[in-house]
Amino acid sequence: MASTDLHSLSGQAAIVTGSSSGIGAAVALELARAGADVVVNYHGDENGAQATVDEIAAMGRRSFKVKADVGKEADVIAMFDEAEAQLGPVDIVVSNSGLQKDASLTDMTIEDWNLVINTNLTGAFLVGREAVRRFRKKGRREAVSRSLGKLIFDSSVHQTIPWAFHVNYAASKGGLKLLMESIAQEVSSEGIRVNAVGPGAIATDINRMEREKAGGLDAMLALIPYGRVGDPVDVGRVVAFLASDASDYIVGQTIFVDGGMTLHPSFKGNG
Ligand code: BGC
Repeated sequence: MASTDLHSLSGQAAIVTGSSSGIGAAVALELARAGADVVVNYHGDENGAQATVDEIAAMGRRSFKVKADVGKEADVIAMFDEAEAQLGPVDIVVSNSGLQKDASLTDMTIEDWNLVINTNLTGAFLVGREAVRRFRKKGRREAVSRSLGKLIFDSSVHQTIPWAFHVNYAASKGGLKLLMESIAQEVSSEGIRVNAVGPGAIATDINRMEREKAGGLDAMLALIPYGRVGDPVDVGRVVAFLASDASDYIVGQTIFVDGGMTLHPSFKGNG
């Protein structure tokens, strides 16, 4: 029998990629708050990863950091091996790592293109593939969750909103949408739940320059009907919900966490 508190993640282990900062760190903390033990993955920011681990440990949960480049197959496999060695079977995998390398189309180098596609899309494929392999091997653990495993991708409003001067990023997120939905279609019958969150403008380093440049914040707020930039924890809470049995009948969906950005507010009174 699963816990009577459907939001509880107690007794479950999670991996969150890119959880040394920003949305990933908030996701890791919210999963831990709900009771999960959490592997904190990072690529460059070891101190940030340690800070996330320390906060999780202070909540009384088990946590450790693993360095891995999600765009490298061997790194991803080694990360899962390490997670299972230290925490046992992994029930929840959050593929969150992502980056931007912005340029106009004609200024975009092949390196800018490849870096973004490799981390945001190929990384999601590698992490998602490994998650499904490990869920199958682990088998169902009815004592902790109704499903065989939960795989959650961190996408973006830009999986549906085109984004000039960011064609690599928008293409990676558009690809991620169909990657997520196609994996969900392929594995849901096994009891694996695959979903995504689609954050809008969340206050993290990825958009700090945009928010802090002259007029930047007002321009951003004009795109957000709800009238505020999001906090990482706004996304973390939704991921914790998607990881829990409280969302057990949500399969193959993207939950936008965007203050209404996907409502295309520039059409209000126009068009
Ligand atoms: C991007 C941010 C941007 C937001 C809304 C996110 O996916 O990473 O830079 O502020 O979308 O446009």
